[in-house]
Amino acid sequence: MKITLFKGDGIGPEITAEVVRIINELHLPIEFEEYDIGQTAYEKYGELIPESAIESIKRNKVALKAPVTTPVGKGFRSVNVGLRLAFDLFANIRPARNLPGVKTRYDDIDLVVFRENTEDLYIGEERIVDDHTVEAIKRITRKASERIIKRAFDYAVKHNRKRVTCVHKANILKKSDGLFLAVFNKIAADYPCIKADNLIVDNACMQLVMRPEEFDVMVMPNLYGDIISDLTSGLIGGLGLLPSANLNDEYAIFEAVHGSAPDIAGKNIANPTAMLLSACMMLDHLGYQKEADLIRGSIDDVLSHTDIRTRDLGGSATTSEYASAIISTMKKRS
Ligand code: NAI
Repeated sequence: MKITLFKGDGIGPEITAEVVRIINELHLPIEFEEYDIGQTAYEKYGELIPESAIESIKRNKVALKAPVTTPVGKGFRSVNVGLRLAFDLFANIRPARNLPGVKTRYDDIDLVVFRENTEDLYIGEERIVDDHTVEAIKRITRKASERIIKRAFDYAVKHNRKRVTCVHKANILKKSDGLFLAVFNKIAADYPCIKADNLIVDNACMQLVMRPEEFDVMVMPNLYGDIISDLTSGLIGGLGLLPSANLNDEYAIFEAVHGSAPDIAGKNIANPTAMLLSACMMLDHLGYQKEADLIRGSIDDVLSHTDIRTRDLGGSATTSEYASAIISTMKKRS
């Protein structure tokens, strides 16, 4: 089976090399087909997302993507937004759980954010009214709301989750977020076994930093999902730990939530865990759950039984030393 691989920019190539090294240890029938996107592609081909990369995803249906740099300047649409829209990857799924051995202010966090990925303020429709005023369109549609909310409830059922919380600002945005909330309430009625509730986004932020362990599955429009999921990464120990999937029923792109971290690029000190956990989500998606669990268990073992960890987690290990420790642990566990 072929998987499209994007090594990305900044720390992308360093963390990708280690993630691929770890996956290759599993000896699965997976072959990576490598393409450039982002700044590297722009410098080589004058395009952020070359057509060959799009064609590869169309063929393979599944991609593993490292973070990319969106060049600063006018007219550059984010590569991530571009890919999500090109493939209509409506569901952005971001699980956040405490990793044993990573000291945080909270224990027992195990929640999953479902972020609507195709509309809201991210449609990029901004208008200059006059020299002093700019407007941006926030679009919420019934169709996009239904599919992300249904996906969140189906996930809750499949993974034996107990609660789905809708996050919104329907008290102010009565029509747009009001529609999202109305769709949520309608769909929730079809899942009587799941506790469905809703929180206004500001209250949700407060509750998340007071009692994050009480949250389970959360579903929300695009902008709140962007912000809340970064907040949840802070709860579990930082951006270096949060994986994600962008998917629909046909295509899936798996990637870390963090960016290309140019400040630490090329130093072999970046934390590859978020990209590795994203690769585990990819393995789950491909039906290799046992193998994904082996990697996840090995990450947990390394972090809880050794002091081998990257600098962002207070350690001094390089990216490759940490990856090697995971590989040794995988060998011991299997
Ligand atoms: P960033 O996530 O790259 O970095 C924020 C901070 O977190 C930095 O101090 C960085 O060193 C640290 N950090 C991030 N990932 C880390 C890791 N794996 N290990 C250790 N430390 C890590 O966000 P920033 O600086 O705002 O963006 C840099 C570039 O990344 C921009 O060009 C932005 O457009 C792009 N970006 C790309 C994304 C993607 O491809 N999915 C997502 C977010 C930003």
